[in-house]
Amino acid sequence: MSDLASLLARPETADDPYPAYDLLRETDRVLWVEEMGRWLVTGHREALFLLCHDRVSVNRHLLDDGVPPEQKPRGLPFIDPPDHTRLRALVQQAFTPGAVERIRPEAEKLADELLNAADDRDEVDIITDFAGPLPAITLASMLGIPPEDHDLFRSWAAAIVEAIDPVSHQLVSDAGLQERVSMQDYLTDIIAQRRQRPTEDLISGMVEAEESGDRLTGTELMEMCVVLTIAGVEATTNMIGNGVNALLDHDDQLARLRSEPQMIRTAVGELLRYDAPIQVAGRIPLEDIELDGHRIGEGQSVGVLLGGANRDPEVFPDPGRLDLARSPNNHLAFGRGIHFCLGAPLARVEGSVAISMLVNRFPGLHRAGPGKRRANVHVRGFMSLPVALR
Ligand code: HEM
Repeated sequence: MSDLASLLARPETADDPYPAYDLLRETDRVLWVEEMGRWLVTGHREALFLLCHDRVSVNRHLLDDGVPPEQKPRGLPFIDPPDHTRLRALVQQAFTPGAVERIRPEAEKLADELLNAADDRDEVDIITDFAGPLPAITLASMLGIPPEDHDLFRSWAAAIVEAIDPVSHQLVSDAGLQERVSMQDYLTDIIAQRRQRPTEDLISGMVEAEESGDRLTGTELMEMCVVLTIAGVEATTNMIGNGVNALLDHDDQLARLRSEPQMIRTAVGELLRYDAPIQVAGRIPLEDIELDGHRIGEGQSVGVLLGGANRDPEVFPDPGRLDLARSPNNHLAFGRGIHFCLGAPLARVEGSVAISMLVNRFPGLHRAGPGKRRANVHVRGFMSLPVALR
């Protein structure tokens, strides 16, 4: 194994991948790693080029990787135009900054309730007690899942996300597949109910769009709900967990955020840049592409390392420093181009509500033990992050 490939496989790289990204970038900003059969891109400029290139696909069916076609991932993030354009237009409206701003009071109420429930405990796990439930329940409520089923929805979301292989995106356990089937059956019922009696929720909105233009089939609609859950819940949980972790490592920045609460907007962007929840965006060129003196072949696998691009010193002065006021901050934590994160406005609202409320309500917030990272270099987050609130 080459030095670089073995470096990427080391457990300490899963814990802190940034030194490895720096080494990759210094070696070559666009690098073929034979052992992985994959190009790795760590330069910001090169990452932008690929993410915005109209001859670069997200369709995993183009990869000759031995994964059976029925197990390849489906849904919006893995579809190219023209289908992508049609599907995205149908849900886009619900996720505009104006639309999600209306969710803020509800997210604040929920965050308050979760913190009330944790308030008198000696030790709290930021992930299971706060960062996990907040996005799952917020999304359930947007979709129109009745409150009595929110816990059920939350446990499905967690079980499905847990069972997804980060590289192939396929569900790797029978238990995960079973949970997905249960969730799909449940959603099919809810969709049928909304067809009969529409309400003000996102599922009713999508049903209406489907019926008016016959543009979203029943299966596409149900899959869209599953994709929103898979794409949205874990990344937001990890944003809150990674963000709180970074603040606990940087007392000066935490103090600054408490004394200047309006800084939360730039703070959320910087926390996302500093430790991005989604570290890799997979791409497959539809034709040979020249980049930095390399020829990336048609059909080859490319890993655009968002976390690496976010630490590129060509774009971010002193990239390893957390600076909550950093401006400009052209980070790629939400990707770029036509697949730019649909849920970014929602994630920003949830992130700012969660982090502001936690740090301002509990001035004595501190670690109660070491956090436990997920052993996964693609989706970066914590399994547990124990803190004491006082
Ligand atoms: C901080 C939290 C989040 C982060 C860091 C994040 C990150 C990303 C990234 C990097 C992509 C692009 C992937 C690519 O280009 O291959 C993406 C796409 C996507 N995200 Fe997010 N996401 C977050 C929250 C959400 C939320 C809350 C939702 C919805 C409820 C959501 C739904 C989606 C969808 C549907 C796509 C695919 C968009 C498309 O292909 O057009 N995400 N996200």
